[in-house]
Amino acid sequence: MKLLVVGSGGREHAIAKKLLESPQVTDVFVAPGNDGMTLDGLQLVNIGISEHSTMIDFAKANDIAWTFIGPDAALAAGIVDEFNQAGLKAFGPSRLAAELEWSKDFAKEIMVTYGIPTAAYGTFSDFDKAKAYIEEKGAPIVVKADGLALGKGVVVAETVEQAVEAARDMLLDNKFGDSGARVVIEEFLDGEEFSLFAFVNGEQFYLMPTAQDHKRAFDGDKGPNTGGMGAYAPVPHLPQSVVDTAVETIVKPVLKGMIAEGRPYLGILYCGLILTADGPKVIEFNARFGDPETQIILPRLTSDFAQNITDILEGKPANITWHEDSVTLGVVVASNGYPLDYEKGVVLPEKTTGDIVTYYAGAKFSENSKALLSNGGRVYMLVTTADTVPAAQEKIYAELTNQNTEGLFYRNDIGSKAVK
Ligand code: AMP
Ligand code: GLY
Repeated sequence: MKLLVVGSGGREHAIAKKLLESPQVTDVFVAPGNDGMTLDGLQLVNIGISEHSTMIDFAKANDIAWTFIGPDAALAAGIVDEFNQAGLKAFGPSRLAAELEWSKDFAKEIMVTYGIPTAAYGTFSDFDKAKAYIEEKGAPIVVKADGLALGKGVVVAETVEQAVEAARDMLLDNKFGDSGARVVIEEFLDGEEFSLFAFVNGEQFYLMPTAQDHKRAFDGDKGPNTGGMGAYAPVPHLPQSVVDTAVETIVKPVLKGMIAEGRPYLGILYCGLILTADGPKVIEFNARFGDPETQIILPRLTSDFAQNITDILEGKPANITWHEDSVTLGVVVASNGYPLDYEKGVVLPEKTTGDIVTYYAGAKFSENSKALLSNGGRVYMLVTTADTVPAAQEKIYAELTNQNTEGLFYRNDIGSKAVK
């Protein structure tokens, strides 16, 4: 079986590598991918993620059994609908089902309609009304651009002035482009964040191990929000009862709700949750795998990933199994300056061997192909599995200390919340 993965980051590296481990899979192509992936036998296809019809031609010409869509932008642009119209299978939600991610206002409406716990909110396109709402509610308060903004369209404001400024940036000064033409302003939720992922087809779903991302750039959750600087799974201090509650109050009702709305969900459902004093509440839904969470969740899968996705696509029961013990932890290495401006072209350390896996994101061969160079904000991620979080941290940080990471940086405290 030949498969295609759409995307280019560490997430897609982890998806593609896991698919290639399946005994029935002969080839995994990644469009457009990154050069680091080729070190794991993955084949790059030079097609950009928005070139859907070229991808469809490629999938037809190469007898691709099905295509796994990684990034949110492709889903929001309707790539799955286009594949389906061309008679091809793709794993990911339709454009209408992916609206759970691409419009925060839509997600909020679904949550209100189907009684799913989330922060109280208002949606505004008029600045004066937004300002009045912020002044009425007081701080702390959270201001979010309605549309996709690469994780940067959220301001957790500690004062009313900050919140008003964020609303002004989005609504009047157009700083987030179209995605900020409407804003969702919501109650600040206090508690620990965690992510819950599921493979979904309609009402059928298979939960993955819980995961915790680290979104801020620097140690101690300081600095700007990034795509994610490291993660681990499962979250050992999260009681099973919390997961059970989240399934009953969040996962099941949202999937039922999407069917009732005529937008049945297929693909990965990513619930970003906060464990408040009143139980788990939704911060956001995403319509795809997380990055870097995928890189620490998929190594825990013990079943045949390609068979699992084939079965889910066909609506058949999937036999999905996971490592029960141990924890998987990974640390992202990024370019100095990320998430703002950064330099490219730093020579990267050798790919790790043994029980530490390297997943590449922004990596490109030099012109003579002898060296792999940095070529993006997040560059690579080291991932390992060990009995405990401290044991995994020890292995990863020992390796990172030995690597030459000049021009690059990483957080030194990934997983520390799990070691109280
Ligand atoms: P989002 O892009 O919606 O995941 O938001 C980015 C980050 O902002 C989240 O990971 C949270 O840390 C924070 N955040 C978003 N919404 C809230 C909220 N209602 N209360 C507290 N923190 C929030
Ligand atoms: N890790 C956060 C995200 O993928 O959105």
